[in-house]
Amino acid sequence: MPDAQNIYDTPSFFSAYATLPRSQHGLAGAPEWPTLRTMLGDLQNKRFLDLGCGYGWYCRYAVSAGARSVKGVEISERMLGRARELDRELELQEEAERGEPRERADQGRKVLVEYIHANLETVDLEPSSADVVFSSLTLHYLPTPSLSQLLTQIHSALTDKGILVFSVEHPIAMAPIDPPAEWQYTRTATTINAVDSDTKTSAGADTDSNPEAQSATRNFRYWPLNAYSKEGPRVVDWLAPGVVKYHRTVETWINMLLVKGFVIEGFRESWDGMAADTGERERPYYLLVKVRKE
Ligand SMILES: C[S@@+](CC[C@H](N)C(=O)[O-])C[C@H]1O[C@@H](n2cnc3c(N)ncnc32)[C@H](O)[C@@H]1O
Repeated sequence: MPDAQNIYDTPSFFSAYATLPRSQHGLAGAPEWPTLRTMLGDLQNKRFLDLGCGYGWYCRYAVSAGARSVKGVEISERMLGRARELDRELELQEEAERGEPRERADQGRKVLVEYIHANLETVDLEPSSADVVFSSLTLHYLPTPSLSQLLTQIHSALTDKGILVFSVEHPIAMAPIDPPAEWQYTRTATTINAVDSDTKTSAGADTDSNPEAQSATRNFRYWPLNAYSKEGPRVVDWLAPGVVKYHRTVETWINMLLVKGFVIEGFRESWDGMAADTGERERPYYLLVKVRKE
């Protein structure tokens, strides 16, 4: 019995999702994209399969990068509708640039994306049908038994030496339950005389006359990890109330891949160009993984 929620077909969620930078600007709005692109490598003449393709940004990239065939699987009809609209917009733009309509099919027309309306929990992937399987920010919507089945299918769908590249919300970012997945704040006494510019309180009555004895407190923020090892659903209010995602530890993610027979070739908890002083640096936000079928 599939558990997929298909929240992206809920009109209010779909409208809110459309306002995100990555929905408006595509790959340019996804800071992790250059790192994922490096992990993907050369797509020339490859058969590319995108799981949870959403608006189809990565499918269109694969076409532009010379893939031989491109398929996108997606559960949400609204997301697929938007993907087709964006395909058409790109086609019109390319026609306008060329000053003529696209060549007919028998005149070397470029690869078209094949969109497949299916639930990843029940989809049937054809054996040895893909050289590159990709998935961006989707696999954390699957409960572990469904993910395990899907990974078995991906392994079979890949040709020998084929790769799977995917991103998911980082387990550290997803783990919190109570307190919820938000930065928490505390005021902590710190070292003598380490007065910070942001906050300070004096520890004793005579500190004004004795600056050496002055102590400081500072506002610390921290990410609550008291539920990290408790795997399972996380129900969050993100763009709409009651969005269900599934938390797994990094250990579980890696072991699932190893058990299926994948070899790990890339593993990132940051992306190229990530600013040093952002929250994403302090608390990993995405997990980016590349594995190969051996
Ligand atoms: C955060 S969006 C990412 C979309 C796209 N991969 C991207 O990065 O632009 C997650 C996508 O996964 C799709 N999705 C979630 N669960 C799914 C399932 N069980 N089967 C197929 N697609 C699913 C959602 O409908 C949504 O389009």
